[in-house]
Amino acid sequence: MKRETVIVLDFGGQYNQLVARRVRECNVYCEIYSYKTDIEKIKEMNPKGIILTGGPNSCYEEGSPTYTKELFELGIPVLGLCYGAQLMQHIMGGKVEKAPVREYGKTDTYFDTTSPLFAELPEESVVWMSHFDYISEVAPDFHICACTNDCPVAAAENREKQLYAIQFHPEVLHTVYGKEILSNFVYKVCECSGDWKMDSFVESSIQAIREKVGDGKVLLALSGGVDSSVAAGLLSRAIGKQLTCVFVDHGLLRKNEGDEVEAVFGPTGDFDLNFIRVNAQERYYNKLAGVTEPEAKRKIIGEEFIRIFEEEAKKIGAVDFLAQGTIYPDVVESGLGGESAVIKSHHNVGGLPDFVDFKEIIEPLRDLFKDEVRKAGLELGIPKELVFRQPFPGPGLGIRIIGEVTGEKVKIVQDADYIYRSEVDKAAAAYEEANGKEAPWKPNQYFAALTNMRSVGVMGDERTYDYAVALRAVRTIDFMTAESAEIPFEVLQTVMSRIINEVKGVNRVFYDLTSKPPGTIEFE
Ligand code: XMP
Repeated sequence: MKRETVIVLDFGGQYNQLVARRVRECNVYCEIYSYKTDIEKIKEMNPKGIILTGGPNSCYEEGSPTYTKELFELGIPVLGLCYGAQLMQHIMGGKVEKAPVREYGKTDTYFDTTSPLFAELPEESVVWMSHFDYISEVAPDFHICACTNDCPVAAAENREKQLYAIQFHPEVLHTVYGKEILSNFVYKVCECSGDWKMDSFVESSIQAIREKVGDGKVLLALSGGVDSSVAAGLLSRAIGKQLTCVFVDHGLLRKNEGDEVEAVFGPTGDFDLNFIRVNAQERYYNKLAGVTEPEAKRKIIGEEFIRIFEEEAKKIGAVDFLAQGTIYPDVVESGLGGESAVIKSHHNVGGLPDFVDFKEIIEPLRDLFKDEVRKAGLELGIPKELVFRQPFPGPGLGIRIIGEVTGEKVKIVQDADYIYRSEVDKAAAAYEEANGKEAPWKPNQYFAALTNMRSVGVMGDERTYDYAVALRAVRTIDFMTAESAEIPFEVLQTVMSRIINEVKGVNRVFYDLTSKPPGTIEFE
């Protein structure tokens, strides 16, 4: 079955993935390609529509990213955004130059609502602008269909040829009717039917996996993270016991996590597969003994995983496929859109196990964005707690214990972290219940870490000399930058008092206020 596809041609804009995600939220499948993609390849794909993204260049400068004019003559609708809009105008004979007034941020815009792009929008609304250059003259046969006080051409169209150029960014949430504009493009202009839905994705993937795998054997390293869990669920539904999952419990997981993964995918869970749990806690603690340098710790944790996985693979013998939880952002970021993605390494250390005997790699999630992976996970019946769990680094608590890792320290940080997460969850749920909306301070990632610092305290009549726990909670969209979350003080106090009372070996609790940059989210 060929699904309807809209393609995004990437001109280097920072929001390229966002554009594709927003289109997919309209139930239309969308893929990203470099602007260097050959026109013949585009013709072959026969997309329902093409979107040109923004980018940092000036289209009138020599050497700037461009495209052949033929793109606009294929009879396929094209929507240019920001740089893409300027480029379309430039190529089609309009004029683009440095704007007398640079527009940046939320901007009032007036729409011609007879344009199919702006159908059913109010005549005035706020959009997100970010440009130095502007379209000073539209190309012949184009008509201006939106403007702002500073920008005479906020949008231009040639309805007959189905070419649309918009200076602002509909993909950014600050553009109030951005989603409607993209939806208008894919439905009213491209006439898509909206066949991209997660239930049909799951169904058709199961079919495709069965066809590809036949009666072959598949091996998957299951970490308990969202991607590998959803991959396991999907493969299990498709091929049952032809799938073997190896789950290495490195003793650096959060409290109860190993058992939770086993409850879902192990023999008593709802999925039919061979589940091998390797309890490698002691082996890891031995390897990590005396190691304090963060990079050395990461390396040991990653390499040990590979060794263990190899040992298990050897026991299993040759398999036909090695499955990976590669997702679409990995494919796009590896710059290989459409071709085979670089092999995703576990724990972020380069390389695959040397001795795993397999013929081919299978990546059942390589077309999906993270939010789609989650939806597919729910469709497959994977528990919500697993599907919506917060990001957790491959090296696990190993990089949340500053300095040497020991079994005793792991226990301390597990217990403190468990208390912290439960209290934050409880407070966030209570806020939502009382206010009917999400708490404004609700963090995207929050955890406890163990500092390497011990200090003097007093418990009852006794002097103590114990560890300090650090609490981290950040609000972030992309995890590239982050702000410390303003968790209410009384919540923090409850957490502090529970940790000190319930977790032996801790007599002090700190709250980390550092944003990223200059800090990182993790401690090591
Ligand atoms: P930092 O600490 O770099 O973290 O600000 C950004 C995000 O990445 C996660 N993270 C990792 N994830 N392996 C992973 O799979 C790692 O080695 C790793 N280090 C950091 C971190 O939890 C945060 O979400």
